[in-house]
Amino acid sequence: MAQFTVDSDVVRTSPDQIATALADPGFGRYFVDHIARAVWNPDEGWHGRRLIGAGPIPMHPGLAALHYGQEIFEGLKAYRHPDGSVWLFRPELNARRFASSAERMAMPQLPVDDFLDSVHQVVSLNKDWVPAGQGEQSLYVRPFMFGSETLIGVRTAQEHTYMCLASPAGPYYADPLTLWVTPNFSRSMVGGTGMAKCGGNYASAMAAEVEAHAQGCGQVLWLDSATRTLVEEGGTMNFFVVTADDELLTPALTGTILAGITRDSLLQLASSHGLTPVERPLELTELLDGIRSGHITEALACGTAAVISPVVGLKSPDFELTIGDGTPGPRTLELRSHLTGIQFGTLPDAFGWLRPVA
Ligand code: PLP
Ligand code: COI
Repeated sequence: MAQFTVDSDVVRTSPDQIATALADPGFGRYFVDHIARAVWNPDEGWHGRRLIGAGPIPMHPGLAALHYGQEIFEGLKAYRHPDGSVWLFRPELNARRFASSAERMAMPQLPVDDFLDSVHQVVSLNKDWVPAGQGEQSLYVRPFMFGSETLIGVRTAQEHTYMCLASPAGPYYADPLTLWVTPNFSRSMVGGTGMAKCGGNYASAMAAEVEAHAQGCGQVLWLDSATRTLVEEGGTMNFFVVTADDELLTPALTGTILAGITRDSLLQLASSHGLTPVERPLELTELLDGIRSGHITEALACGTAAVISPVVGLKSPDFELTIGDGTPGPRTLELRSHLTGIQFGTLPDAFGWLRPVA
């Protein structure tokens, strides 16, 4: 396997400046020094695997991705443990999802080994940027790929560029969420790109997010576009409810929902909290009736950036509901402590999910 090689002239940020950034990293505000890059074309395949300095990249205004949005990305985190070591959480799943997003977008697939090597090296070279772990801070890693051919015609680009950035990050949503069930917009359709992690999904969701914020809600809860009767997922997160008979229920993956890695992890953690993991279609009416009757006791939304965000309310033009007593539920908080305990190395990694960064 060809390795990513490190440029020798990358300028490193001073320890004082890193300390200032880590004191209040926000989310995606500061960027590390070394980033990965590789290029694909039909003649050479993947080549030019390098770790370069972060900074502006030259591009022609005819760059294919700027016009037709051939772009995919991933998100994963590096966690610092109490002994100072740094770990990734299930990065192979991000590598595989990146490849399947590429396939859906008619882009070349980056080999899983290249994905993993680039992610490991970006984290390893920028280890000083991984926060100490207080306040659930970590290093957010952002692999992405875009059609980089200069081309105004509509066809799959004949050059694609892969890059991997990283940025120290605190929690994405500081407060429990009320979700907005938009009557006006859809995220995903059968045969569409909902199961891919492509930039276009987020671009088309912005109007609904603006609407949600105008309604005092933190995010959107998306319904299926065909019938608008089924709950799908949150804007940057998968959606779960806890029931009075101890089910941890999430909408089944039907091809229109992103298969979240946090979602999969919670389904596996459920039984150690006395919860039965259930994946099946969830009707909006069942959700609303369950909240009203008390059968649904808690709701949560989960993702790499969001971790586990308690969902304490739902709102639309037709209803406004408080879930439980309007505060984060106990099972939600237990699941969150369990997951973050594994990630930050304070609880046993019983499933073997962590990978050390050298
Ligand atoms: N759904 C959407 C639309 C997302 O953007 C994300 C975040 O990546 C998720 C679900 C959760 O996925 P994961 O847990 O792999 O981060
Ligand atoms: C993630 O959780 O990694 C995401 O991609 C969500 C968001 C920051 C777009």
